[in-house]
Amino acid sequence: MREQRSPPAGAHGGHAPPRHVGVIMDGNGRWAATRGLPRIEGHRRGLEALRRTVRAAGDLGIEHLTVYSFSSENWRRPAQEVADLMGLLKRFIRNDLADLHRNGVRVRVIGSRDDLSSDIRTLLVEAEELTRANTNMTLHVAFNYGSRQEIAVAARRLAEDVVAGRIDPAEIDEKALEARLYTAGAPDPDLIIRTSGEERLSNFLLWQAAYSEFVFLPVHWPDFDASALAEALSIYMNRQRRFGGLGPAATAGNAMTGS
Ligand code: FPP
Repeated sequence: MREQRSPPAGAHGGHAPPRHVGVIMDGNGRWAATRGLPRIEGHRRGLEALRRTVRAAGDLGIEHLTVYSFSSENWRRPAQEVADLMGLLKRFIRNDLADLHRNGVRVRVIGSRDDLSSDIRTLLVEAEELTRANTNMTLHVAFNYGSRQEIAVAARRLAEDVVAGRIDPAEIDEKALEARLYTAGAPDPDLIIRTSGEERLSNFLLWQAAYSEFVFLPVHWPDFDASALAEALSIYMNRQRRFGGLGPAATAGNAMTGS
């Protein structure tokens, strides 16, 4: 997924806008609970927040937006809630695909397709095929996604390539593994936002987030909007990114380990 090995623009100064933003859309259930509404209502409003966010990200020139919409662990939820989330994915693709395409958004769906119904699998392929050549922004929808599973699958693909003689084990490096992740070809996320006040990655982009900045906002996802996105970007742009090197503070002789 990584395109750069040396610090990109914005390293040391931290003022370049992010090319790639990942979002953990959390707090739908709590949003609904505080209003005495069923959880599905929180997810429905969450879908509206997702639409707003895609538009706002496009307006801000973000090239890649990755949204965590169903984790491989979400199957543990009650069957009705799982069915509701599947229904919302279908609704999103059916209702919004034409609009996304008109706005030059490429849609990629990352995650395992194995457990998805055949109508959903067909819709996902249709969305990816229709928007394949779009270049304004790429929306990566993480659905039935789990980062450990993604890395394990990449390792399996490498093993298969070794057995088939396509790659020598001595050639296996970070790039070889990255090329086999669901996110192959996209830059690493510069910024990962999580809403609802929780502060963890929950199996989201573990490999890709090695040097991401994290911004945790107290707002529940259904209330997320363009101004919340702008706030997260402003926090990000005031951060100093060092990518393991030394920041300007080193010149003053007080740098720590550079991380
Ligand atoms: C986390 O909130 C959110 C989810 C598990 C689902 C996210 C789904 C959407 C934003 C809308 C649907 C969009 C698509 C494309 C399917 P939570 O339910 O864990 O909230 P809680 O922690 O407050 O209970």
